[in-house]
Amino acid sequence: MTASRDIACRVRGFGAYTPVDVLTNFDLEKFVETTDEWITTRTGIKQRHRLAEGQNASDAATEAARLALADAGMEPGEITHVINATCTPDYLCPNTACLVEAKLGIMGAMAFDFNAACSGYVYGLSMARAIVAAQPDARVLLTATEALTRRLNWADRTTCVLFGDGAGASVITADGEGALLEDVLCASDGNLGGLLTIGGGTHTPYAKGDPVGEDFFVQMNGRDVFKHAVRNMAAISQDVLARNGLTTDDVALLIPHQANLRIIEAVGDRLGVPAERVFVNLHEFGNTSAASVPLAIADARAKGVLRPGMRVLLATFGGGFTWGAALLHF
Ligand code: UT7
Repeated sequence: MTASRDIACRVRGFGAYTPVDVLTNFDLEKFVETTDEWITTRTGIKQRHRLAEGQNASDAATEAARLALADAGMEPGEITHVINATCTPDYLCPNTACLVEAKLGIMGAMAFDFNAACSGYVYGLSMARAIVAAQPDARVLLTATEALTRRLNWADRTTCVLFGDGAGASVITADGEGALLEDVLCASDGNLGGLLTIGGGTHTPYAKGDPVGEDFFVQMNGRDVFKHAVRNMAAISQDVLARNGLTTDDVALLIPHQANLRIIEAVGDRLGVPAERVFVNLHEFGNTSAASVPLAIADARAKGVLRPGMRVLLATFGGGFTWGAALLHF
């Protein structure tokens, strides 16, 4: 297998956006049978952000994209590709990437969405790397955005306490200043897709005027997802390190998908990464699916936890199932 560090690929700018409106665990206690104590001890989450009425996944992505472009010192007009990860798009058609492009005031880029659920950003790094390998002058805007609170069944306490809205973005080019994408690995197992679903596609045809059913919202077998998440995030992290001749001793910071603190701790334990080298911010944002990793990267930089010179290991897991890991050298 060829190590992809042979392909030059720089992640040059990072940006993140979360909506202003915050829902705390105490807010949830008021309308669903749960407690701050249960949510905190079982997940680590204390609050999540929620898009305002009329504000959509494309709006969050556009805000994050503006910040990423500014961070990269680039103008929207320089972008040749907009690739957007989401499982909660504004529409089935048009795609959210086209909406982001329009909101940035540009046109003409190749623009498309893809859905790898919570693994979206890492899958996106893999695609961006392929694009710049094929077209070295490409300037790829990768956005990862979710409006999950729009697809939560607020009567289902097993899911509605877990998720939040937000977006992250990066600009990827073959060269220039920025974090070197040393390698990225992605995987999936579609046999397990039924364990974590959001309906509303053509699988369940609705007739005009039909009320939406429970299938329309996030449905999850949490315990099974938990086990697969720990196993696969740890295994693919080990794989990406091994094929680059590295160990976790060479990693300054692990930034895992922010779904559950117990999952994060278990992955850290399996990899032998001490807690002080594992970045956690899910207490502030909950699980923002595809946005979680870029949101964590931007947050870790803003908080001074992620600094130039550090090698960072990203690890993700989500519906599909999909999972992935990447090595970024800042
Ligand atoms: O991002 C994509 C990947 N998603 C994930 O990684 C999520 C993975 N799964 C998880 O994070 C955890 O499985 C959950 C947080 C969803 C659930 O934690 P758990 O420790 O697996 O709890 P459980 O499902 O085994 O439920 C334990 C108990 C049950 O009550 P009984 O049957 O023992 O009486 C639940 O009904 O906790 C109850 N429960 C709650 N109680 C208060 C479930 N949700 C709640 C709640 N508040 N919100």
